[in-house]
Parts: sequence; C-alpha cells; structure tokens
Amino acid sequence: MRVLIGGGSGFVGRELSRLLRDKGHEVTVISRQPGPGKITWGELESHGLPPCEGAINLAGENLMNPLRWWNESYKKDLFSSRIDTTKALAEAIAASPTPPHSWVLVSGVACYKPS
Ligand SMILES: NC(=O)c1ccc[n+]([C@@H]2O[C@H](COP(=O)([O-])OP(=O)(O)OC[C@H]3O[C@@H](n4cnc5c(N)ncnc54)[C@H](OP(=O)(O)O)[C@@H]3O)[C@@H](O)[C@H]2O)c1
Repeated sequence: MRVLIGGGSGFVGRELSRLLRDKGHEVTVISRQPGPGKITWGELESHGLPPCEGAINLAGENLMNPLRWWNESYKKDLFSSRIDTTKALAEAIAASPTPPHSWVLVSGVACYKPS
C-alpha cells in the first residue's frame, strides 16, 4: 500500500513508518517542513491528495511542550494543530477521484483531573 501519514515525523509516526516500510509499504509524510519522502500541508492543499491507499493523521502540537506556557495561545495551538490538519486531509480525501480505502486518526485518548 501507499500510505500517507500526517505528522509521520513524530514519536508515533517514525515507528509506524518504519514498521510499514519493513513490511514493504510506501510511506509519504505530511509535514510543516519539506524534505525527502515528505509533502507539506501547503502542497496537500494546493496539489491535492497524492495517490495512496491509506491515510493517517497523527499531527498535533505536543501536549507536554516544556517551552510553552499553559495559556490560551498554547491551548488554541493544541486544538488547531489537530483540527486544521485533519480538516485539510479530510478535504483532500473528499476531493480525490481515487480516495484511500482506509482513513485513521489518532489524537487525545484520555482526560486527566486538574490535580
Ligand atoms: N505519544 C503518546 O504517548 C501519545 C499518547 C496519547 C495520544 N497521543 C496523540 O497521538 C498523536 C501523535 O503522537 P506523537 O507522540 O507521535 O506526537 P508528536 O511527536 O508530538 O507530534 C507529531 C507531529 O505533529 C506535528 N506537529 C507538531 N506541532 C504541530 C503544529 N503546531 N501544527 C501542525 N503539526 C504539528 C509534527 O510534525 P512536523 O514537525 O513534521 O510538522 C510532529 O512530528 C498526537 O495527536 C498525540 O496527542 C500520543
């Protein structure tokens, strides 16, 4: 399969990419930064979805970023980095004449008490 992974450069995505490539699948990462084996979110929006059988979104601002204060701006980035990337990928899939068979999202999986 050709698999497109938003945020595939991160902690989960690097391992998932390695596992998929080891099994013979082709991985393209969607990133904020251009590079080998990558397309940017801007390229996804302007050129549309590249041919793929699977699409995954793991992109999101790190919830434990030690360089950020827990303020409204940080909380906005936590939401928008997940929602806007998912929206961009969903729109590209909806507009594609050959949409992927699989579409997987991973985001927050737990809630914690304020303490
Ligand atoms: N790791 C865990 O234990 C864990 C647990 C529960 C849930 N999750 C969720 O699973 C997903 C993946 O986790 P992860 O640990 O692999 O995440 P991660 O390494 O912190 O980040 C994944 C990727 O998101 C992109 N990203 C970061 N900030 C962004 C921003 N402001 N706007 C757009 N993209 C941004 C980065 O890619 P580029 O720099 O290439 O753009 C980064 O490589 C996240 O949604 C996370 O909340 C993870």
